[in-house]
Amino acid sequence: MKSRYTIIHYEETGSTNEDAKRLAEEGALHGTVVTADKQNMGRGRRGRNWSSPAGKNLYFSVLLRPGFKPDRAAPLTLVMALSAAQAIEELCQIRAEIKWPNDIVVNGKKVCGILTEMSVTADKIMYVVIGTGINVNIRIFPEEIKATASSLLLECGREFERTQLLEKILQRFENNYQIFMQSLDLSGILEDYNGHLVNRNREVRILDPEGEFEGIAEGINSLGELLILRKDGTVTAVYAGEVSVRGLYGYV
Ligand code: BTN
Repeated sequence: MKSRYTIIHYEETGSTNEDAKRLAEEGALHGTVVTADKQNMGRGRRGRNWSSPAGKNLYFSVLLRPGFKPDRAAPLTLVMALSAAQAIEELCQIRAEIKWPNDIVVNGKKVCGILTEMSVTADKIMYVVIGTGINVNIRIFPEEIKATASSLLLECGREFERTQLLEKILQRFENNYQIFMQSLDLSGILEDYNGHLVNRNREVRILDPEGEFEGIAEGINSLGELLILRKDGTVTAVYAGEVSVRGLYGYV
């Protein structure tokens, strides 16, 4: 089947998310994908930077123009997380897990991060950009992430073709996105996502701006919220935008 994506590749750029947003403002279509060999200003979540040296890793951003209301868009980032985990498993023949909401971990270390950004006017989505960075063939990491980061090369003992990985992720994403669009929630891929969830049935600490609490992560609901069974027996649904999750005994 012919791919519905249009790929725009840069040898070097600031950030593929910024490129995708600029192209969106200029009228680029749903399904435009920006890739880069190197990013000089790769961006991560919570204002962090994303180390993006040349020749080693995968950096790409997918531009979407979904027709639904902005309040339905948050789970899209989980759709990409599942797609990336599935593609890594298929290509590398290794177990890839998701640290809620959208980090991919292999053997307890982060190999992939996702940064989703959205532009909204008058309660209408103008565009969504889902940017994904995967540590593929890199061996050495900056000091500040060395303890928690890894790469597919380090975990599998061999190098991988970056374009092959991209192709597999985009195939998976196309399929998962279609399933998502049928219900506009995660119900169709919930089981698969929860099956990959590294936090599942583990004790976690929820860092909520309104106060921290601990509990057991039971899995996500169809909105992508993480369900936490608290010590008093109640279940609290936590929303990705506001909180972060820590394992009680380490990164996951
Ligand atoms: C995270 O902090 O875990 C998210 C990292 C997202 C990095 C990717 S690399 C491609 C795209 N361009 C960016 O500047 N960031 C995202």
